[in-house]
Amino acid sequence: MDPKDIKWEELGFGYIECDYRYVSKYKDGKWDDGAIITDSNIVLNECACVFQYSQSVFEGLKAYYTKEGDIVTFRPDMNAQRMYDSAKRLEMPPFPIDRFVDAVEKVVAANKHFVPPYGTGASLYLRPFMMGTNSVIGVKPADEYEFRILVTPVGPYFKGGAKPIKIKVSDFDRAAPCGTGNIKAGLNYAMSLYPIQLAHREGFAENMYLDAKTRTKVEETGGANFIFITKDGTLVTPKSDSILPSITRRSIMEVAEKYLGMKVECREVPFTEVKDFAECGLCGTAAVVSPVGMIYDHGEEIYFPSGMDDMGPWTKKIYETLTGIQRCEIEAPEGWIKKIN
Ligand code: PLP
Ligand code: COI
Repeated sequence: MDPKDIKWEELGFGYIECDYRYVSKYKDGKWDDGAIITDSNIVLNECACVFQYSQSVFEGLKAYYTKEGDIVTFRPDMNAQRMYDSAKRLEMPPFPIDRFVDAVEKVVAANKHFVPPYGTGASLYLRPFMMGTNSVIGVKPADEYEFRILVTPVGPYFKGGAKPIKIKVSDFDRAAPCGTGNIKAGLNYAMSLYPIQLAHREGFAENMYLDAKTRTKVEETGGANFIFITKDGTLVTPKSDSILPSITRRSIMEVAEKYLGMKVECREVPFTEVKDFAECGLCGTAAVVSPVGMIYDHGEEIYFPSGMDDMGPWTKKIYETLTGIQRCEIEAPEGWIKKIN
């Protein structure tokens, strides 16, 4: 697609094929040098480990223009580390952290013309992913792998932009039963496809998943972590080993404490406490900070005092400070912003 034909302001969260992707292959115990290529197709044997046993992990991060005209990414080393950990959990050879960050830089620089202009609200989404590529029929890891980063310009993850969404408490578990909930693996997300379609058919934007063991504690949604604000302005965010350790959430905790002077609590959140919070939001690379107006729990509607029209006041402050830092309008903590040359 010619970037001149893209209506940046109207973009949703979809895939638009861009010109270049980064690829590196692993064979005979080592990663090759990697390259920027044009072919968006991957041809694999029918018995490739990724098809048979879903041996795949992925990441997500964004690149955007600042007011000054620089292109920047936000904490790519954190994505590199998380992908490293995910790969180890799935018996894959981790892609080296410095090479991940270098690949991010190269693929964004190659696709500069697809980075949405400043002020459009859109950004370039990067999807690093890795898969087992050789044929495997007994249950075992592959010996050969492909690491790839594709890019695509995206707009808001939820329809309606910053308008509060309605979500429902799911009866399903998001994580795979083998406890892979804290990594980004293809298998995890496939498990959430049925519940998310069900939620959409019922008119909800997302699911609130509760802990699989007791179904009494708040975990996360299909694609974002939760933040809650108490009536006295404390930020509360669920602590759990089976949720994805969101980079956005970890950044928000620091922003809330150091920039906004808020009290921050990362702890177990009983579902029974949810009705007492003043504000609720979802956070993630794709979701950024998206306000939740109502949670539907088996016939009961929990509306937050912040309402269905706007972000709550604290959520808004968090959103503005975080995105201000990401776009270099507010000074970032050391090492958070990586400029693309
Ligand atoms: N939780 C899930 C299940 C996700 O898919 C994502 C998105 O990456 C997040 C949380 C948010 O993580 P991050 O802020 O690192 O993008
Ligand atoms: C992200 O925010 O990067 C995600 O991975 C969420 C979703 C698109 C799966």
